[in-house]
Amino acid sequence: MTSFDEASMTSGYARYLAAKTTVDDRALNQHVLAGLRRLMPAGAPKVLEVGAGLGTMVARLMDWDVVGAGEYILLDADRPLLDDSRRWLHDWAAARGLRSDLRPDGLQVGDLRVRLEHAELGRYLEAASGAPAGVLIANAVLDLVDVPAVLPGLLRLLVPGGVYWFTINYDGESVFEPGHPHDGQVMQAYHRDMDERVRYGRPAGDSRTGRRLFHQLRSAGAPALAAGSSDWVVSAGPDGNYPGDEAYFLRSILNTIENALRSRPDRVEPADLASWLAVRGRQLAAGELVYIAHQLDFAGRAPG
Ligand SMILES: C[S@@+](CC[C@H](N)C(=O)[O-])C[C@H]1O[C@@H](n2cnc3c(N)ncnc32)[C@H](O)[C@@H]1O
Repeated sequence: MTSFDEASMTSGYARYLAAKTTVDDRALNQHVLAGLRRLMPAGAPKVLEVGAGLGTMVARLMDWDVVGAGEYILLDADRPLLDDSRRWLHDWAAARGLRSDLRPDGLQVGDLRVRLEHAELGRYLEAASGAPAGVLIANAVLDLVDVPAVLPGLLRLLVPGGVYWFTINYDGESVFEPGHPHDGQVMQAYHRDMDERVRYGRPAGDSRTGRRLFHQLRSAGAPALAAGSSDWVVSAGPDGNYPGDEAYFLRSILNTIENALRSRPDRVEPADLASWLAVRGRQLAAGELVYIAHQLDFAGRAPG
């Protein structure tokens, strides 16, 4: 969707999030997006995006004419990433010919005021006191938190009947092609790591977040009004090149799996993990690796 300037980014994670934009562009469920468009409040709403990372979603929603005016808050626990987001959005706006002005707490892009909020979500929910938002967004984030614990508080960040759009929620299935004899044990161990993950002193993840959200949203009084799959599907073109920076995206996915499992010899034999990674790395370099991750999107309203 947009270019990136690697040199201007402080971390490989920022480059990963920039590389992810084209993958998410294809994946985001269009039926659920149409539901969001129908539900969007008129005028200049206050939008809060939690776990906003580099801010690629606000750029996408401006590109897609879903938001254009009002206030858009990017909340994230990663301060350096928020600093990157200010510069990234400024460059993105310049590339689009959009007026943008840096502000101490964010930036103005056309008629949209973008504010950066540095906070860990759990603590933010415990302390939440500001004016509620009309729209709440979480993209590729709810599978990194304890949904049953945070969902009621998240929905209280919205005005009664306010709109949520929870997208790219991982749902227990990753496929790498061509198949490899160690795929099963690697993915089983990786899912277990997701299920047991702790961050910021709290449980942080569920490998089946997507499917569980149907009932969790219903129990919280906010059943989905639209739901659908948003699978990541990444493959090289006929020339063997991956689109955009998606080879880097795939390399990051392999690194994430390696980092999660290399200290767990009880779950995957180190030699098996090493040979799996070596084969996947060669396939990536040759443009042969195909990656599919099953995910789900939801849109709906907070209790009225
Ligand atoms: C996978 S990234 C997704 C970023 C962005 N939404 C996107 O799709 O490009 C997850 C983001 O959530 C943030 N995050 C994870 N746990 C968080 C928490 N407990 N509180 C606040 N931010 C959190 C991370 O710092 C990271 O930027």
